[in-house]
Amino acid sequence: MFEISDFFGYERYSLRCGKTELSVISLGAAISSLRYDGQELLLGFEDAEGYEKGWSYLNMIVGRYANRIRGGRVNISGREYQLECNEGRNQLHGGTEGLHKKRWTLSAHSDESFTLSCTSPDGECGYPGELKVSVSYTVTDASMTVRFQAVSDRDTVFAPTTHAYFRLNPSCFDTRLRLNASRYMPTDGENLPLGICPVDERFDFRSLRPIGENYDHCFIPDGECSALLSGEKTAVFFRSDFPAMQLYTGEFLPPAFEKNAGFALEPEFCPDSPNRSDCPSPLLKAGERFDRFAEYRFCPVEEILL
Ligand code: GLA
Repeated sequence: MFEISDFFGYERYSLRCGKTELSVISLGAAISSLRYDGQELLLGFEDAEGYEKGWSYLNMIVGRYANRIRGGRVNISGREYQLECNEGRNQLHGGTEGLHKKRWTLSAHSDESFTLSCTSPDGECGYPGELKVSVSYTVTDASMTVRFQAVSDRDTVFAPTTHAYFRLNPSCFDTRLRLNASRYMPTDGENLPLGICPVDERFDFRSLRPIGENYDHCFIPDGECSALLSGEKTAVFFRSDFPAMQLYTGEFLPPAFEKNAGFALEPEFCPDSPNRSDCPSPLLKAGERFDRFAEYRFCPVEEILL
């Protein structure tokens, strides 16, 4: 079932299918609620202010480039571009007027799915090309899928994410996590990657275990991105065709929430990939179609088969 309602002056689009209920607001195409079997799975703001301020990019669509780009510098098809720098001398999450700031419009809907779209003009936050972006949210009785599609009229880079913060336990340190990643990216003092290294004990989540401490790191999956998030009541099986995933444990959340109340597992391209030869390229050629997904399947925690 699809419904439109008001969220403090913004459109709110809701889907319900069996045990899964999803609401997304037009601002930043942010998920304002995701419930499975009556339980809220995400952190959420009570009103529009937190989303308008873009605090912690809570549950928003982030882009054009999710994560950091060193010096805000990119070389696209042989030409240097200086992007807007909004975190010291680097760019974070696409700049101040990123996709999280857009008021997205409804472009299609059915009983199980809807699509929100927006346009980022040529040169916005320093990126070349007029970029048309669509994000579809689809639910089934026990899943949510986010699909990203985009096309640019000039060669550009594009690497969005969905910045959903799961809250499956009162503290995310108690949520158990399994990641199919034998490599990760250690970071420097500016949270930029230093390289790609094999996981040591601290970064090895290949067997399900509590998150336990703070992380803000990119993991490189062995094959397709996949993860299991196991909380008090609900487990989430995550899968995506993005090349990497950032684990951010919410060390700095807005005052409305306790520290580490939720965590984000962001399907992404690697941080700073435009400046790295060891990572998949985020280049989107003029006229080429970007099409990637992130899928979340839910079940009661006692039903997970390890
Ligand atoms: C990402 C970054 C973090 C932080 C959050 C948003 O996960 O890696 O450092 O900026 O987004 O607060």
